[in-house]
Amino acid sequence: MTIFLAIETSCDETAAAVFTDEPRILSSVVASQTDLHARFGGVVPEVAARAHLERLLPVIDDALRQAKVSWGEIGCIAVHHTPGLIGALLVGISAAKALALALGVPLVGVNHVASHIYACRLSAGRDIFPCVGLVVSGGHTTLYDCLDALTFRTLGATRDDAAGEAFDKVAALLGLGFPGGPAIEREAENGEPTAYRFPRSLIRDERLDFSFSGLKTAVLYALGGQNNADAPPPPPGKGRADLAASFQAAAVDVLVTRCRQAIQRTGRTRLAVGGGVAANSALRHGLTALASSLGIELFIPPLAYCTDNAAMAAAAVEHWRLGRFASLDLDANPTTG
Ligand code: KG4
Ligand code: ZN
Repeated sequence: MTIFLAIETSCDETAAAVFTDEPRILSSVVASQTDLHARFGGVVPEVAARAHLERLLPVIDDALRQAKVSWGEIGCIAVHHTPGLIGALLVGISAAKALALALGVPLVGVNHVASHIYACRLSAGRDIFPCVGLVVSGGHTTLYDCLDALTFRTLGATRDDAAGEAFDKVAALLGLGFPGGPAIEREAENGEPTAYRFPRSLIRDERLDFSFSGLKTAVLYALGGQNNADAPPPPPGKGRADLAASFQAAAVDVLVTRCRQAIQRTGRTRLAVGGGVAANSALRHGLTALASSLGIELFIPPLAYCTDNAAMAAAAVEHWRLGRFASLDLDANPTTG
């Protein structure tokens, strides 16, 4: 059995995990930086990188302690090296290289977006490929035809804001704070999803792309604003809850419709959905209903493996099986794998 130590520092979570080549998770530790970024209303890249530097070694120590694994038992180091904030990624990559060199074990570079799909494989405990994969996070909204754990063909992607970004921006418009996804979800519980008919952009477009900036602007107009500066957040109450619920309904409708189209187009019988927005219960309900109406299998990770973590980097096991190791000049790539 080979034991892996994985590191995630691509955005604002400092995370480490220990897993076996099965893959079976032995520990997963996540130190969130939400408190540091909240007052800026979004992630500040320099602040994120510095916080990773302070937190990474204690987080790794914690992961080893929880897994009851010593340094000598680690047989491979994995790290998310793309995509993400360049300064943030570099902290994790530098640590991973130093550890691989010091321990004399192989290094594996893992694509963070592919890992969000792999989180589904991990929690299912069995093979889920081939499948249609949807990654809905703060930085990505992309539909893939996943031929296997490492071979993805892009079916469509967002042309502007990511779904999570839209949740965050609309939460800011409504004065609900950061991060916006969970705040919108809570607010929407008391609102009427049909109170406003917000746009479902591109939904009939042949390419399976997404666009969420028009939806965000529609919420701004509903608030009576013309630009971000001139729409004061609405007071708490039914009106604000209706806006949150109607926005969430539109976003979920678009995501579920695109999944249906992707399944119909590819003929796949499995759908895997990952990323922070996959924690949203309205989306989870919508996808569950879709899967039962199409008679397909749906894979969504538990909440802890939807948002950023290092356990999902267990995709490293697939690289390791194929002997796909990284050299010590592995670089951070902010945009794509
Ligand atoms: O995957 P993730 O943790 O980080 C990235 O790789 O981007 O996703 C973070 C995003 C944020 O935009 C956050 O607002 C959103 O996921 N999110 C949610 C929920 N929880 C997190 N969006 C909707 N509903 C949620 N419950
Ligand atoms: Zn992510």
